[in-house]
This record gives sequence, structure tokens and C-alpha cells, in this order.
Amino acid sequence: MTGDFMDIFQKCFDYDRPEKVKAMGLYPYFVPLQGHVGAEMEIGGHSLIMLGSNNYLGLTDNPYVMEKSREAITKYGTGCTGSRFMNGTLDIHLELEDRLAKFLKKEACLTFSTGFQANLGAISTLGQRGDILYLDRENHASIIDGSRLGYAKVVKFKHKDLDQLRHILEKNKGEPGLIITDGVFSMGGDLADINGLADLAEEFGVRLLVDDAHGVGSMGATGMGTAEFQGCHSRVDLTVGTFSKSFACIGGFAAGDAKVISYLRHNARTNIFSASLPPASVATVIASLDVLEREPELLTKVHRAAKRCREGLSDLGFNIGHSEAPIIPIYVGEDLDCFRFWKDMFDNGVFTNPVISPAVEPGAAMLRTSFMASHTDDMIDRALDVFKKVGRKHDLIGG
Ligand SMILES: Cc1ncc(COP(=O)(O)O)c(C=O)c1O
Repeated sequence: MTGDFMDIFQKCFDYDRPEKVKAMGLYPYFVPLQGHVGAEMEIGGHSLIMLGSNNYLGLTDNPYVMEKSREAITKYGTGCTGSRFMNGTLDIHLELEDRLAKFLKKEACLTFSTGFQANLGAISTLGQRGDILYLDRENHASIIDGSRLGYAKVVKFKHKDLDQLRHILEKNKGEPGLIITDGVFSMGGDLADINGLADLAEEFGVRLLVDDAHGVGSMGATGMGTAEFQGCHSRVDLTVGTFSKSFACIGGFAAGDAKVISYLRHNARTNIFSASLPPASVATVIASLDVLEREPELLTKVHRAAKRCREGLSDLGFNIGHSEAPIIPIYVGEDLDCFRFWKDMFDNGVFTNPVISPAVEPGAAMLRTSFMASHTDDMIDRALDVFKKVGRKHDLIGG
């Protein structure tokens, strides 16, 4: 372009952060994995213990789930090539929505093609001009983006600060509103106080939406999620979730009252103007629900693995926050220190995910670890040995 114009691409040409980190040999993203996502896997010819997957129930390579997925391709083909609204609804989409509604003890359910789209669609469709959305500051990006789309007023409260939320609700008394929170916070693995939020929702006549992407299929006695774990499932007005974690593929859903779901079904733009979930994914989720209902002990197993690691990391002296879910953060501090720690963990056979700003506050970079029902005690103990060695080298722990 000639010098007379401001180029919209200029920001891309100026963006050199990845190149700088690559030049230091510390670039941790887009690492190609080879083979099934399992508890231990091959990466670049080496075997690594996988502590970076959201495959909580370990179902991505479950033989029954894979067979059901293959059968769906044989019967329905590879894709629907259209929106649910038009030509993209298969009988198994309806079966899945019915199964999920029953599983979650809600009147109705609507599936979306990703969890991100479920939040974008549900929140932007419900939160219109004149409405108020109350957001926890640490909510997932899809909630924040969904809130921006619908023209509702958006008010954020400090992470899990119910006193501040009460104060804000008092100021907006009488206005139609929706409190929105993650059930399990995706980075810290800590939980929303859903009972406390439901109390406030009731007192101020607003509704409560819980995005339980990391909770459904991992939390609660039957896997219904964080609210089940806290004994208040029926107090959540709308549950949003994903199939990209415990349900071993991709997709999302919203579940709640039949009239609300019907409204979303006919108005949510991310559903109407986007192609529907492919048959293999629909069948994978139905099969995952079969397995979860048959083998609820998978829930105990994933928490057992997380507990073993949490206790081990805490005994070693790492700063691991307050996680109650099968996600454990290991706080490091500065972004580059986090990359260095990640690299040494990786080179010593443990795959983790480095999380830096803006996903977390600047200076609060962490390694995010997550657990699977298929992690054995031996794998966790071997990972802890590596944490000990590498943590000492990086002065994150004493000894
Ligand atoms: C809390 C939360 N909500 C929504 C999503 C989006 O889910 P999906 O991967 O299905 O788009 C995620 C995924 O990371 C998440 O952690």
C-alpha cells in the first residue's frame, strides 16, 4: 500500500511476540500431538504424561464411544451441511437433546456446534437492550463476548465477590437481569458459589445462568455438574455447557425451561446461521452419556487422580490456588518464567498448558494442569517427581 493510507493490517505486521518467544526456544503453542489423546501420549517421538487435556472421563479413545461414532458416519455421513433450523437436524440431534435434558433434569435442551457458540448465542439472545447482565470478572471469554453482542448493559463483579454483586443488584433493583458465572472456573479450577448466587437471584428477581463447561461430566455424584456437587441443581435457571471436555468431541448446549429453550431455538443467531453438529460428534456425546451412566466410577477416578496430584504439589510447596475440580493451576508469576518452567516440564516428559495474560491477570502466569479418569497413580507420581525436580530448578519450591 502507498504511504497515504493507514493499513488495517499494520497491527499484524507489528506483532512480533510469538517470533521473539520462538527465538528464545520457548514457544509453547500449537505443539502437534500424535495419536489418540490419552493419559500418556506420543509427541515428537517421545512419550509424555498428558496433564493438559480436558478429556476428564478419558473417553476420547473409549472403544464403545469410537464405535458409536464410526457407526454414525456409516449411517448419516460426515456432515449435515446446514443449520439446525433448516436442513441440519437429524433424528439423533433430537435424541441427544432429549437425553441431555433428562440427564440434567431440565425441561429442554438445545445443542450448538461449539460451547463458545452456545454462550454467544444464549447470552446475546437473552441479554437485549434494557436488560442487565451481571458477570464474574473471571468468566470465560465466550461469556464476555456473548454479553457484548446483545446490547444489554454489562456489569462485572469481582471474582466470586457476592457482597459486591449484592451492592450492584441493589443499585439496579427492578431491572430485568441475568447473573452469569462459570460453574468451574476454567483456569483456576475453583468453583462458583452457586447457592449464594441463586439466593441473590431470588432476592432481586433476576435469573441465573451457569456455564458449566468444565463441570458437567466431571462434578457431582452423577456428573450433572457443579450445582449438583453443591446440592442446588434445581436453582440454576439455564445451564450452558460443552462437548469438548468430558464428552470427548466438540459441540455445546443450553438446557433449561422449555419456553426459554424454544426462544433460543428460534432466535439464537449462532445456532440459526451456523451448520449443525456433525453426526459423529452427536453419536459420540450420546455414547459418552451411556458410558457415564453405566460407569459413574469414572467420576471418582478423575477426582482421585486430581486429589493425588493436588496433595503432592501442595506438599512440595507449590502455589496451587483453591481448585476443587480436576484442574490444578500452578502459579509461576511472569510470562517468560512460565514458558521456561513449561519447557523444562515438557522436556522431562510432562505435558502442561502455560497460561499467560490476557487469559490471566499480568504477573499471574500459571501452568494449568488437568486430569483424566485414566491417569494412574504411577503416572501422577512420575509427574510429581518431575514437578519436584523442575520446580526446584526454577526456585518455585524450596529444597
Ligand atoms: C468455561 C468455558 N466455557 C465455554 C468454553 C467453550 O467451549 P468449546 O470448546 O466447546 O467452544 C470453554 C472452553 O474452553 C470454557 O472453558
